[in-house]
Amino acid sequence: MESFQDLAYNGGTTQQLPPQFIRPSHERPENTKAIEGVTVPVVSLSQPHELLVDQVSKACMEWGFVMVTNHGISATLIQRLKEVGEGFFALPLKAKQAYANDAANGKFEGYGTKMIKNPDEKTEWLDYFFHLAAPPAKVNPQIWPKHPPSYREVTEEYNKEILKLTDKILELLSEGLGLEPNTLKSSLGGEDIEAEMKINHYPPCPQPELALGVEPHTDMCALTLLVPNGVAGLQVWKDGNWVAVDCLPGAILVHVGDQIEVLSNGKYTGVLHRTLVNKERTRMSWAVFIAPPHDKVIGPLPQLVDGDQNPPKYSTKTFADYRYRKINKLPQ
Ligand code: SIN
Ligand code: FE2
Repeated sequence: MESFQDLAYNGGTTQQLPPQFIRPSHERPENTKAIEGVTVPVVSLSQPHELLVDQVSKACMEWGFVMVTNHGISATLIQRLKEVGEGFFALPLKAKQAYANDAANGKFEGYGTKMIKNPDEKTEWLDYFFHLAAPPAKVNPQIWPKHPPSYREVTEEYNKEILKLTDKILELLSEGLGLEPNTLKSSLGGEDIEAEMKINHYPPCPQPELALGVEPHTDMCALTLLVPNGVAGLQVWKDGNWVAVDCLPGAILVHVGDQIEVLSNGKYTGVLHRTLVNKERTRMSWAVFIAPPHDKVIGPLPQLVDGDQNPPKYSTKTFADYRYRKINKLPQ
């Protein structure tokens, strides 16, 4: 069986998509087109606080997704982040493979493609680089890309800014539940909260109408903050339709993940999303997953649960247990 890399890095001579990438008919982009005339919520963070609480929490309740502008992260820094990621993926395949992860043996950090556990599963059309970026005690920059040389400095700077933005969003979401601003952050581990960087790289695909970049999923973390390059492809699920995300230049896309859904006892929704790929152009995206430490116990916040009126809708468990079940497709 040809690997993703054999195909995508063979100089683009493959015209026919091999069977392991061909989605069953009901999943194919050609049969599940995005609805026309619907756009995702956009919120400028330079508005008065009360408005922000309303708008951000409403978007995260109704969509589990919000595009934020005027978020305080400079366009220059985002541009530099993209350049260092593009620099890494421009390396020859062999150089990237020197960073290979080994997810089967618990080494999730590094360069790789998604592991297919079951021969019936279809392969996703992407490769990626994944590494921890916070908290400092858990980060090992030795396994980050060494090329381009500025990768580390730029990524550290971006990550600092992303953590500030995360604090702000978690405060808004806490207040949107009628709770103290620090509630969600402290429930996610406070200063031990983890940030994981995943650079997604989707090379041109010979038959994009038959394939998917990433298949429909919700993120198992608390929040994902994401910037794409200029190539469209992300779609979010809303009221029975796929909605294409048209990312404004400089905006940051925020996904509500499963842990915020659980903590809020379902008031906020983890957004189902997928990505399409492109025939001519390489799509890339930079996702930072904000997650509790693995040993953190997460369940519906007691303030939101009362006996009969609001019973807990989710079980309480460690994030490690949640992850294990999600990765192995076990019931939660
Ligand atoms: C993902 O959410 O898994 C990927 C999102 C993207 O590439 O836009
Ligand atoms: Fe995702």
